[in-house]
Amino acid sequence: MRYYFLRHGIAEELADSDFNRALTARGAGRVAKSGAVMKRLNIRPTQIFSSPRLRARETAEIVAAALGLPVTLADELDFGFDLADIRSLTAELGAGDEVMFVGHNPDMSSLAHQLTGVNVAMKKGGLARVDVFGKKARQGELIWLIAPKVFDALSDASGPLDADAMPPAKLPSTAYPVHDLIKGRWSPVGFDRERGINRATLLSILEAARWAASSFNRQPWRFIVAPRENAAEFQKVLSVLREGNQVWAQHAAVLMIAVVQQYQAPDAINRHAGHDLGQAVAQMTLQALDQDIYVHQMAGFFPDKAREIYAIPEAYEPYTAIALGYRSCEIDHLPAAYREREAGERLRQPLNEMVYSGNWGRAADFLG
Ligand SMILES: Cc1cc2nc3c(=O)[nH]c(=O)nc-3n(C[C@H](O)[C@H](O)[C@H](O)COP(=O)(O)O)c2cc1C
Repeated sequence: MRYYFLRHGIAEELADSDFNRALTARGAGRVAKSGAVMKRLNIRPTQIFSSPRLRARETAEIVAAALGLPVTLADELDFGFDLADIRSLTAELGAGDEVMFVGHNPDMSSLAHQLTGVNVAMKKGGLARVDVFGKKARQGELIWLIAPKVFDALSDASGPLDADAMPPAKLPSTAYPVHDLIKGRWSPVGFDRERGINRATLLSILEAARWAASSFNRQPWRFIVAPRENAAEFQKVLSVLREGNQVWAQHAAVLMIAVVQQYQAPDAINRHAGHDLGQAVAQMTLQALDQDIYVHQMAGFFPDKAREIYAIPEAYEPYTAIALGYRSCEIDHLPAAYREREAGERLRQPLNEMVYSGNWGRAADFLG
């Protein structure tokens, strides 16, 4: 089991009681930044327990909001939080669970010490990760400690991070600022071969596609979806891909075929169907990336084979195949050309070659 010990942020000195000491504005702001960094570090506890004292509760709630998780208040985390309390709070949890405890010193530092044998100085807003072994969870290892100043520094850097193995970011140098998700998106061939996409996350990704705009709200997109756990279906989609894509896409967590409804009726073509499918996939891509899941679209597949295997009706066109998964920088199993591509720079035409005004091909004046 994995424990995260988080000490509350900087709180006001005075209140009607110690219990009601709130975070200062600076303390709350700093915790919010730390929460955003924790999300980028892919820290995803299955449970967050907090001391009921206001400063800890506020800290837990800010971090939980950043991670999209609820907080459970636990009186055990009030002063005097000890190993017996940890055991009772985690009694129902499994070895694969990750638990965050938000509380006070000296308890946070002391528990980290008791579990690891290391003297741990937990500053306000600091976070320690301790992995414990065995059912009794008395022994563990300090995997890392993030001091608030380190959170500050990480919060100034942009792009996704991974606490354990940080795959090199492929951030382009944009000419103008854009949203982190747009900047961080790209099409990798290195996917984590172990990690699947859980059902709730997959449903959110598909839901994001569902809410795309479309001409006359026709929603001409359809998706044939095969998570890797369903080996037979996964193989079916894989068999439709061109060989050059199979090489890497076989390691994705989920494969899809995106299908578009080209005809509303036998003689009524929807000229914007492809455009609308593209929008739905773009939304899916950004929703996925918000969960550190990368999307790689493919034209390299056999549409006729897909039509045959899935009995896709005439009015519909298999348009693209899509691979989704968590990234991995361990790509030694891929041929050299793919490894080089993974390391390659991301390039685009400049805006003045694609943004016109006045006449076709004339760069828009406002571009300067
Ligand atoms: C419709 C479409 C089809 C694509 N087909 C393939 C493909 O068959 N194989 C492949 O490796 N990449 C494919 N790509 C990925 C593009 O090569 C990639 O998006 C482009 O080079 C820009 O790189 P980036 O996405 O990393 O920014 C496709 C992308 C799109 C949108």
